[in-house]
Amino acid sequence: MNNREIQAAWNYHDGTKHSYWSIRTEPHFLDWANRPLPFKIYPKIEPLPLPRDVPQTGVAALSAISDAVPPSQADSVPGLQDLARILYFSAGITKQRAYPGGEIYFRAAACTGALYEIELYVVAGDLPGLEAGVYHFNPADVSLRLLRKDDFRGNLAQATAMEPAVTQSPATIICTGTYWRNAWKYQARTYRHLGWDNGTLLANLLAVAAASGLPSEIVLGFVDAEVNRLLDLDTRREVSLCLVPIGRTSESSLPAPREVPALHLETIPLSQREVEYRAMLEMHDASSLESVEEASQWRGNPPVFPSSAPAGEEVQLERLREEEQPKATIEQVILRRGSTRAFDQTASITLAQLSTILDCATRGLPADFLEPTGVQLNDLYLIVHSVQGLKPGVYFFQREPNTLELLKEGKFRAEAHHLGLEQELPADACVDIFFLADLQPILERYGNRGYRAVQLEAGAIGGRMYLAAYAQHLGATGLTFFDDDVINFFSPHAKARSAIFLLAIGKPLKRQNHSGTSREVRNQ
Ligand SMILES: Cc1cc2nc3c(=O)[nH]c(=O)nc-3n(C[C@H](O)[C@H](O)[C@H](O)COP(=O)(O)O)c2cc1C
Repeated sequence: MNNREIQAAWNYHDGTKHSYWSIRTEPHFLDWANRPLPFKIYPKIEPLPLPRDVPQTGVAALSAISDAVPPSQADSVPGLQDLARILYFSAGITKQRAYPGGEIYFRAAACTGALYEIELYVVAGDLPGLEAGVYHFNPADVSLRLLRKDDFRGNLAQATAMEPAVTQSPATIICTGTYWRNAWKYQARTYRHLGWDNGTLLANLLAVAAASGLPSEIVLGFVDAEVNRLLDLDTRREVSLCLVPIGRTSESSLPAPREVPALHLETIPLSQREVEYRAMLEMHDASSLESVEEASQWRGNPPVFPSSAPAGEEVQLERLREEEQPKATIEQVILRRGSTRAFDQTASITLAQLSTILDCATRGLPADFLEPTGVQLNDLYLIVHSVQGLKPGVYFFQREPNTLELLKEGKFRAEAHHLGLEQELPADACVDIFFLADLQPILERYGNRGYRAVQLEAGAIGGRMYLAAYAQHLGATGLTFFDDDVINFFSPHAKARSAIFLLAIGKPLKRQNHSGTSREVRNQ
């Protein structure tokens, strides 16, 4: 199937829905003895250690998340310290905790099942402190490993049909997804998780790049096979998901694309045996771009979604008072973050706190598929349990006027418990934010790859919400859900939409001791 045959995305989406019955009739048991390694290890390549004590940016988290780097004529070239900061605070190990089978290394960004299937690579020209090359980042020893020596930025320019941010960037980070590492637990549904987990990581990456004064952008328009070949990926196991050009240079003479022979580099197997999920491989193939023409058509002209006049009572978002503005830097907030394992059902948050989260997280993601209009593919529906200044009930977030429209007043903790896969977390939170998308126009515009975009966008906005919540000393967690029940609950307003993502926000229960039992790891 090619990218325009959009039945492929529908088949994948419909075939990986959770329902009350599916999780009872298709139980999946974890084979702990076959648990995949959480790191990609090249045993024969010497590590290039990254500097560990990199100066903090000092930039407040909320502005790092939501303020764009002002355009400038001057060059902004990342040095090795900038790269170290960006890589560490996106994918580095921030905590570790013992469990009966070994040790879990928690990372800077939230990730389903703490399985960390997203890998990072760097394709750079000569930078201060780093020679041109293609590198892999290993968070286990905070090192880069050189896969190809020389400047391969011309290959990325070609693969993206001369995407302006890519052609002008001194370095591009490439995010890949390793199927098995996440599919060990989540099976074929992992393809959704690749977008979510890449998205939360991107929220950190974009914020830390911005705090470092470096513009960055998410690029999904690239010829998949060319980028995969450059990274020498075994594409039945690992695939490129997105490119993030970092910084800008006026240097106009990009090198011509170079030959990229296969490298056959040895890596340590993740498990004794791996299971391949056809549905996921088919979804990836069907959403791959095969030519430079397809890559160039990917950009621009995002879909226009008709807006309906609000029928319910509207509430304007509020701002935090000056003295309530959180001062913590983006680095401090990333180190503080950790998904809430139990919320305090007796607690509440204020409308200003919720407004800050919504506003910061939805202020235009820099992504090639959203330009030039800055639309958002995901709509946000809220179940409000306990927010001071809001009646409990169901709300729809209107991004442009920055208002919440009351769709249904009432107490819905029991319903939230059911929708969030019968977990306590969504029932005990102060507010649950559901991401729903009208997939048909998205797939018509972008083809199957629109499905990748919508999942990734949700993860990135969700990742920003995590950061905005923790900046305010609140708690948050991503959650999974019963797809069709979510749509039924929010209908008729949500009719024709699909359930994409869920995030709960509230106050952590005091007795919870997640970070207390784990050791803090700083740049190790
Ligand atoms: C998209 C997403 C969905 C998640 N779903 C659940 C869930 O259903 N239940 C749960 O307890 N935790 C869930 N989590 C939290 C992860 O388990 C957590 O991020 C992971 O263990 C890493 O820990 P940390 O976020 O504290 O660093 C989810 C996280 C994400 C990003």
